Amino acid sequence: MVRLQPMEEADFERYLARAIPRRAERFAARGIWTAEASLEASRQAYARQLPEGLGTPGQRFCHIVDETKQLRVGETWYSSTVEGGQVHFWVQWIWVEPEHRRRGYATAALQRLEEEASRLGAPRIVLEVWADNPDAMALYRKLGFVPAHLTLVKRVGPSGAGPLEG
Ligand SMILES: CC(C)(COP(=O)(O)OP(=O)(O)OC[C@H]1O[C@@H](n2cnc3c(N)ncnc32)[C@H](O)[C@@H]1OP(=O)(O)O)[C@@H](O)C(=O)NCCC(=O)NCCS
Repeated sequence: MVRLQPMEEADFERYLARAIPRRAERFAARGIWTAEASLEASRQAYARQLPEGLGTPGQRFCHIVDETKQLRVGETWYSSTVEGGQVHFWVQWIWVEPEHRRRGYATAALQRLEEEASRLGAPRIVLEVWADNPDAMALYRKLGFVPAHLTLVKRVGPSGAGPLEG
């Protein structure tokens, strides 16, 4: 049995301390940010997305907990906002610790998120995934997520063979 347990402030600070360099590294690896500027860019991006930190309206941060083992196995960040008369439910992030992967935890967590979306009156769950993340793509495909919006990228200029950005 998997439960989503809301993070406390200290957990959230630990989450951010991991998330900021993680995003910096991924964006730098894809050439979206330079390696030198990426850490500060990531810090600023999180500050824009979460101006009130853990208390930012509509944003929820949870541990993924295996209730049977009383064990935190991962984390998720989701958001729910109302716009255009509709509830918009986004899975912003889901992470299962490497040693707990391929045991159905992400599947179970996404089921909990689906229940939460329904409870809030959202007609769908939306998320973004890098096209070069086969693990996550396989997970989402298996659970019935389908592409609804594609970001297209074309390299320009002399740098030619650099990594693709999104
Ligand atoms: C993607 C991620 C959340 C999956 O978590 P998980 O708990 O291992 O996923 P599940 O055990 O629920 O997997 C369910 C199904 O997804 C697919 N899947 C998951 N990981 C996979 C992998 N590494 N390779 C191939 N298929 C995979 C499989 O179909 C799997 O079913 P199966 O194990 O019966 O074959 C985890 O690998 C992770 O935290 N990755 C790093 C963070 C990340 O990329 N998050 C997504 C950002 S959009």
